[in-house]
Amino acid sequence: MPLTLNSRFRSQPLVSNWLNSLNVKSRLILPLFAHLGKQEKITIHGFPEVFRYSISAIAKKAQNFYKNGGRAIFLFGVPLKKDSNGTESYSDQNAVTQAIRAIKKKCPKLIVITDVCLCAYTNHGHCFITNSKFENNNQLTHLPIDLKSTLNTLGKIALAHAQAGADFVAPSSMTAGRVKSIRQTLDTNGFKQTLIFDYSAKFCSAFFGPFRTVANSAPAFGDRSNYQIAPNDSKRALVEIQKSIKEGADILMIKPALPYLDIIAQARKMSKLPLAAYQVSGEYAMLKSASKAKILDEKKALVEIFTSIYRSGADLIITYFADKI
Ligand code: PBG
Ligand code: ZN
Repeated sequence: MPLTLNSRFRSQPLVSNWLNSLNVKSRLILPLFAHLGKQEKITIHGFPEVFRYSISAIAKKAQNFYKNGGRAIFLFGVPLKKDSNGTESYSDQNAVTQAIRAIKKKCPKLIVITDVCLCAYTNHGHCFITNSKFENNNQLTHLPIDLKSTLNTLGKIALAHAQAGADFVAPSSMTAGRVKSIRQTLDTNGFKQTLIFDYSAKFCSAFFGPFRTVANSAPAFGDRSNYQIAPNDSKRALVEIQKSIKEGADILMIKPALPYLDIIAQARKMSKLPLAAYQVSGEYAMLKSASKAKILDEKKALVEIFTSIYRSGADLIITYFADKI
């Protein structure tokens, strides 16, 4: 079935060509992690064959991925410092913005999607700005969200990524009104052509563990259950997907993938926009450990899982296996 692309794609031939001629390899999007240190590759406990890359190493890695048939990467950054307003997140010298420029310089045809969130940049490790002082609030399980500052900061992050050359920005915070607000910020600052790859329905999942180690983004206390969707709340998931479409997302995403195939199938019925599933770090680690222990055949299991994700209706899979196929 042909995908429906928003009119914004017209000014983005690189991206529309990719989506109009998807194949086995180009459907898989590779997440990559950039850091500002000198060390080319940093290994991560519990996350086999996934690394933090230095800026020059990530550009080489990205180019290699392109040479092997990959067409899009999903970029995350590790900051040098965290503070209450997550200020490093929108710096034009942070790991993400530097990596975008380095990758686009070496490999201009590779599509760059950047994660837009605050959890790696705030001292409390949550995906938003709060006015409350978290240090003295150990009895609080959930900090109050300052919606206005959060949306304002998410806009600044998206703009910094767009200015550095990102093709898509991908807001992952589940903040109310994020797509509409980011769209407005991009449009009024001359980035009408920058697309939004929205984390439309992101569940509060136990499968994010290895990611939080590599991105150093675990919450300092509490959990994300007051903004991410509860695993049993399919009703809210559908409302969130509806909002994502209405506010102007160009690609929809469901995350995680395997435990939420029913939600992918429902999203498929709701929209003809390109639909992505994020096979998250825990799903990857689970399969890696089982195959390492010779409990199952990694290749066969992976093909079966990918088949189920496509069968449920996804067009794209964000996966740490993308460079290992
Ligand atoms: C940040 C973010 C997370 C992931 C992607 N973006 C983690 C989280 O919500 O804590 C998880 C990806 C993975 O586990 O592979 N909001
Ligand atoms: Zn976050």
